Amino acid sequence: TSQKSVTDIRFVCRGTFVHSTAEEALQILEDALLGVDSKGKIAFIGEGTDLQRLSESFGFSSCAVTQLGQHEFFMPGMIDTHIHAPQYSYTGTALDMPLLQWLNTYTFPVESRFQDLEFAKKVYTQVVKRTLRNGTTTACYFATIHTDASLLLGQIANDFGQRALVGKVCMDRNDSVKHYKESSEESQEETCRRFVKELLNKKYPLVKPVVTPRFAPSCTEALLAKLGEMAKNNKLHIQSHISENLEEVEWVKELFPNSESYTDIYHKCNLLTDKTIMAHGCHLSDEELVLFRETGAALSHCPNSNISLCSGVLNVRNVLNHKVKLGLGTDVAGGYSPSILDAVRRALDSSKVLTIQDPEYKTLSFEEVFRLATLGGSQALSLDERTGNFQVGKDFDALRVNVAAPGGPIDLIQNEKPQILLEKFLNLGDDRNIVEVFVAGKKVVPFSEP
Ligand code: GUN
Ligand code: FE
Repeated sequence: TSQKSVTDIRFVCRGTFVHSTAEEALQILEDALLGVDSKGKIAFIGEGTDLQRLSESFGFSSCAVTQLGQHEFFMPGMIDTHIHAPQYSYTGTALDMPLLQWLNTYTFPVESRFQDLEFAKKVYTQVVKRTLRNGTTTACYFATIHTDASLLLGQIANDFGQRALVGKVCMDRNDSVKHYKESSEESQEETCRRFVKELLNKKYPLVKPVVTPRFAPSCTEALLAKLGEMAKNNKLHIQSHISENLEEVEWVKELFPNSESYTDIYHKCNLLTDKTIMAHGCHLSDEELVLFRETGAALSHCPNSNISLCSGVLNVRNVLNHKVKLGLGTDVAGGYSPSILDAVRRALDSSKVLTIQDPEYKTLSFEEVFRLATLGGSQALSLDERTGNFQVGKDFDALRVNVAAPGGPIDLIQNEKPQILLEKFLNLGDDRNIVEVFVAGKKVVPFSEP
């Protein structure tokens, strides 16, 4: 048992806990006790722990211990490292074109509607509620170029208790859709003086701004450099897209003829830091992966999107071998599913496709992908001091899973072991199995009625 001296215990749970650590992709604690303190942090966790002794040293005799059922377990909340909140409005449709055509035909016209705050409120409430129900305790969101709607997304995530990074999108180049572009000055001013400043002023405990150049083709080098400078001076998170599709990679070479690689463009503009996450990276070279590793920048693996837009297949084993931080992303709406469980399945499928093509390729295990969905995502977003697993001192961000939830999608025969329960949940489960969601020790699902 590891513990620290805390006296004010908010609640204690007893049962099976599954999570990942640096050493073990899957660690299972059976009949364990976990205590959450009044700040929502994990005060103690231990297997076969002496309840009597703990209750005395932590003084929680007054609060009831919640006992999990036989087919239940707690796992860390899932982390969506890349999701476009406005695109939730058309998720599950419009998957018949490659990336650049898809952006011009579907994405930009829809995103341009988000200057309308009523529309934004409707869609952003839906996406926050849906992802929370699906077990996404932390989401790293792209919004649109509109500052007020982007601030509204931060407010809605805060209101529902979701941990979030929120980015106002920056784009000052190549507008295929009239008015869905900013001037360079406007993009800088709105991002720096309004979006970041106002979001920080709200002092939402779980919501942070993230500097968000859409991707290199949407930005002039001058804007990229300004955003990099601002992120550096204020130690801000950064997100963008990189090397998603081959046509995009070729276009970037034309637009930035003086750069050595796609990665080099971001690197020269100070946009690769240990608080950076770049989506996709399907077509990065090994030299580019080394630059990620050296700068501490992370990748978001978005397998549903990579398949749905026929963009490419990320070689995850190679990324992990290069020791580049990696999480999973839904990339709604390029990826059609707003669930990280889907991302887990598509990541496993993609890895198996690579093994079919090359039997030497070492397929990812479900335990490894479970780690990507939780601790990996947390590390990729530089939030692992506070989230990602059940280490004492971290915030309690967790899902209470009932694999045999009545009316749910999974049938059990008898007494399946925790590892089997987790594997079945990852492959077959859905929100019916996620009976409770906690963020920073607060129960956020089921929703409390306002
Ligand atoms: N690259 C630039 N913008 C986007 C976007 O909205 N979705 C995806 N999948 N790729 C992008
Ligand atoms: Fe994306």
